[in-house]
Amino acid sequence: MINIRPEKPADFPAIKTILQLAFAYDEHSDQTEDLLVERLRKSPAYIPELAMVAILEEKVAGHILLTKIDIVSDQGNTPSLALAPVSVHPDYQNRGFGGSLIKAAHQQAQQLGYGSIVLLGHADYYPRFGYKLCRDYGIELPFPAPAENCMVIELREGALTGINGMVKYAPAFFE
Ligand SMILES: CC(C)(COP(=O)(O)OP(=O)(O)OC[C@H]1O[C@@H](n2cnc3c(N)ncnc32)[C@H](O)[C@@H]1OP(=O)(O)O)[C@@H](O)C(=O)NCCC(=O)NCCS
Repeated sequence: MINIRPEKPADFPAIKTILQLAFAYDEHSDQTEDLLVERLRKSPAYIPELAMVAILEEKVAGHILLTKIDIVSDQGNTPSLALAPVSVHPDYQNRGFGGSLIKAAHQQAQQLGYGSIVLLGHADYYPRFGYKLCRDYGIELPFPAPAENCMVIELREGALTGINGMVKYAPAFFE
């Protein structure tokens, strides 16, 4: 059984290794997710409770990070979250750990009062957790990306009603 809990500094080296291994052969990756995570940890967008690890037999088997973003619309800035990245050690993939991390992160984000999560990810993977196309909500990401990969989930029904706008990411995403 896996245990999911917030990350601790002692986990950081293992998380870095997982990020490097998990994304090593991903054609959509620039293989710098480990550096992105390090920048986000130091940024005001970081929320310690929403950086989580999956522990299997006392070892880190997977990691997920949700950080603060805003959806900028005529209504002003609506706080939301970016899910980026999620990774599972290649030795442990396809055992449901990624799904468990995503569901645990949703629950924790809901408890903290967040209404939605935005992500750029695999079109076949995230809809099973309730993600829908950003396009259907009139939400845009601030860079070119295929519409099928730009997804959002409402953690609270109606959280995105009337919120049509552009996602504003933390500067750490672009450094
Ligand atoms: C994507 C990832 C986090 C999923 O975690 P996991 O523990 O392997 O996945 P789960 O066991 O929860 O789910 C398995 C399902 O995910 C699917 N899946 C895994 N990687 C996928 C990918 N790159 N694209 C589409 N589907 C994928 C599997 O095909 C499987 O589908 P099935 O249930 O229909 O057979 C993990 O495979 C990983 O770290 N991949 C490399 C890094 C990455 O791509 N991260 C996501 C960036 S958007």
